[in-house]
Amino acid sequence: MLLLRAVTGRRLPPLPLPRRPCSRSPTGSPAAGGPRGAAPVLAALLGLGAVLAYGERRRRVAQAAQAPPAPRYPLYTREEVGRHRTPRDRVWVTHGTEVFDVTDFVELHPGGADKLLLAAGGALEPFWALYGVHNQPHVLELLREYKVGELDPHEAPPAPADTQDPFAGDPPRHPGLRVNSQKPFNAEPPAELLAERFLTPNELFFTRNHLPVPAVDPDSYRLQVEGPGGPGGGVSLSLSLPELRSRFPKHEVTATLQCAGNRRAEMSRVRPVKGLPWDVGAISTARWGGARLRDVLLHAGFEEEREGEWHVCFEGLDADAGGAPYGASIPYARALSAGADVLLAYEMNGRELPRDHGFPVRVVVPGVVGARSVKWLRRVAVSPAESPSHWQQNDYKGFSPCVDWDTVDYSTAPAIQELPVQSAITQPRPGAAVPPGELTVKGYAWSGGGREVVRVDVSLDGGRSWRVADLTGERPVPGRAWAWRLWELRAPVAAGAELEIVCKAVDGSYNVQPDGVAAIWNLRGVLSNAWHRVRVTVTR
Ligand code: MTE
Repeated sequence: MLLLRAVTGRRLPPLPLPRRPCSRSPTGSPAAGGPRGAAPVLAALLGLGAVLAYGERRRRVAQAAQAPPAPRYPLYTREEVGRHRTPRDRVWVTHGTEVFDVTDFVELHPGGADKLLLAAGGALEPFWALYGVHNQPHVLELLREYKVGELDPHEAPPAPADTQDPFAGDPPRHPGLRVNSQKPFNAEPPAELLAERFLTPNELFFTRNHLPVPAVDPDSYRLQVEGPGGPGGGVSLSLSLPELRSRFPKHEVTATLQCAGNRRAEMSRVRPVKGLPWDVGAISTARWGGARLRDVLLHAGFEEEREGEWHVCFEGLDADAGGAPYGASIPYARALSAGADVLLAYEMNGRELPRDHGFPVRVVVPGVVGARSVKWLRRVAVSPAESPSHWQQNDYKGFSPCVDWDTVDYSTAPAIQELPVQSAITQPRPGAAVPPGELTVKGYAWSGGGREVVRVDVSLDGGRSWRVADLTGERPVPGRAWAWRLWELRAPVAAGAELEIVCKAVDGSYNVQPDGVAAIWNLRGVLSNAWHRVRVTVTR
């Protein structure tokens, strides 16, 4: 009620906001008019709207009766809109064919200024599609108050795809993704959104592709399952998609995938490393649905246990210029274990797998580095040796900081399988200016091998003193904790303080993250799981 009074108190009479001129604000255009006041926007978006909206509508109907004919708006190209991405350059967004200058609304956005800025310079629709709260008529109505133009209908259409380009057939992607490489496509969700939801929306799930995305016809798709023959050595199978779906029970697993290169950017600040500069977002969580690999292998006649060293190798339909497919393998025992939940997944968060994430079938190996969860799966083979693929033999391995490119011998290190304990801060972002009062720190924590995260410690003073963060969501089954825990800490912070926020997670085996990056530096920048540090300033 107090809040309502505070908001409505500011609302009548409307508070005109000072409006800086747009970078291209034609004289007499509606851009010069500005919003009618900040308070009604905030009030309606906070859902206090029924009463306010009714009064507001009546006021507008009355105004419309005397209003001059609808103004003609200036036309802008998408490129021109794209130049308005910061409050300094004004923040513009589009919805349909309309252009809006929402600079004065940024700080009032109920979801936080940082979230609205993700759409700056582009279309709102891809974000609204993920955050359904916006799909209400009054939100559109309020947005209209910020209208400054229309998209130019004569704008040249995008250039046709280059047919020589092997990546020309890649799928469209969400504009909110932070792209680390376009071809092949590698991108992470913005940290601001990463820990907002336990399940990462498919559109924002990090993407790690080494090659162009294959175009797979689901009707002719076949999965080959092969073994070495002999007793208990299984028979070869060729499964269509409907056969995979109908012959084996559907099993669902909520699992986090993390790339071995997550947080590599921090490692390369110590010394340069080879690899994409992933920030904290090469990790995401989904509910996967599909057949258990174990069920398929048992159906093919493989025995539950095999004497000696055996592996299950996977091949993708994506291949390099020489025809070599992406490949990886996991130990036989993990593939056959009922408790390891390894899937041949055809669903991701209740929908068919998106093309970037392996349509129509991928492997999901919970608790294991993402590199073994082979996408666009074409072949499963039981073999006495690990996958011969480059990515199993000569990449995704860890080394001592003393090993460099002149001395590295990949055959001396095991391929990474289970990942070590990890956590990172997703809010606030490095360099942020936060208001004094109560600070909310958010992040994720996860450990490999199904080891449960039992605690996350957070420090606001660089690690001198610690508090325990609240872990949110359900407690997982110990030993099968495949999904991350999100966590949150609220703490008072004084005006003008310089904070170094640090987090570290502890898993069920009491493994804890190392305190510094330097001691775990390695030439490929993998396994970067040191305490995560974020410096922020508290405003006065
Ligand atoms: N599978 C194929 N066929 N091709 C690939 O490039 N990348 C791997 C793995 N499976 C890859 C693949 C790596 S390194 C990771 S981290 C995960 O897929 C990423 O899965 P995602 O793109 O669905 O997040």
